[in-house]
Amino acid sequence: MATRQSSDMAKFKETLKAAKEVVILSGAGISAESGIPTFRGAGGFWRKYQASSLATPEAFRHSPSLVWEFYHYRREVAAKAQPNQGHKAIADYESRLGSEKKITVITQNVDGLHARAGTKNLIELHGNLYKTRCTKCKEVLVNNDSPICEALAGRGAPDANVVGSDIPVKSLPHCKKTNCGGLLRPHIVWFGESLDPAVLDKAETAMSTCDVCLVVGTSSVVYPAAMFAPQAAARGAIVAEFNLEPTPATPDFHYYFEGPCGTTLPKALSD
Ligand SMILES: NC(=O)c1ccc[n+]([C@@H]2O[C@H](COP(=O)([O-])OP(=O)(O)OC[C@H]3O[C@@H](n4cnc5c(N)ncnc54)[C@H](O)[C@@H]3O)[C@@H](O)[C@H]2O)c1
Ligand SMILES: [Zn+2]
Repeated sequence: MATRQSSDMAKFKETLKAAKEVVILSGAGISAESGIPTFRGAGGFWRKYQASSLATPEAFRHSPSLVWEFYHYRREVAAKAQPNQGHKAIADYESRLGSEKKITVITQNVDGLHARAGTKNLIELHGNLYKTRCTKCKEVLVNNDSPICEALAGRGAPDANVVGSDIPVKSLPHCKKTNCGGLLRPHIVWFGESLDPAVLDKAETAMSTCDVCLVVGTSSVVYPAAMFAPQAAARGAIVAEFNLEPTPATPDFHYYFEGPCGTTLPKALSD
């Protein structure tokens, strides 16, 4: 469905006011103003690697040391970052209106900033930087240690001239359960992996019943999240996109608000 986009904020706010179920679907762009690089554009590199090429099971199999350095770096960056006006506007919207509307935040982000801003009804589609999963017994645990293990202290420098990564596997994070001791990995859905079916199910349910959806700071190219909002628009939900630039999904949506979402979202979600 090719719609002619509107950028009439007053009209959108009227629609939002009347909505009973609202979904906010966010991507890396919402955290850009907190200083966390997105995977597209200039920030998409770590050393000489395309960041998305390290977020894969193949990269971890090939070099758990390199991938753990990359994730150690991302954990340290996100831990120092603060939620911005976009995250705060969403959390504030839920705290003001969450008792009269069903408000769900679905994020592709793994940085934990929505929760730190105070969002309660949150679905993290791709996991979280501060959770680990044992590759052997599959146990998932919250882990906020900095550094996550001694061998990673001072590692993870992003400069392109750093070469190689040689931490012995035995020095990387390991499961502490007796009789296990398996290698831990970040509890993140990597490119090429499937989403947790229970998490996906919750997200699909919210998407299939919302009457308004805000799509914020996502390039709408990473599946399955990329199809959520176009599907909602196709069944008649009103979808508004907030981005710095148009995306492949923009023609599917009713509203398009261009600009940094730290500025546009507080306007859209205020009374
Ligand atoms: N912060 C994080 O947790 C983080 C960071 C990088 C990548 N990722 C992962 O990488 C994948 C990337 O997909 P994606 O679509 O989320 O991100 P993406 O990197 O593909 O796209 C980011 C989008 O945000 C837009 N954008 C950038 N700054 C913005 C701003 N200030 N306001 C509004 N829009 C802005 C860009 O134009 C772009 O369309 C996801 O699976 C995600 O899990 C997560
Ligand atoms: Zn284990």
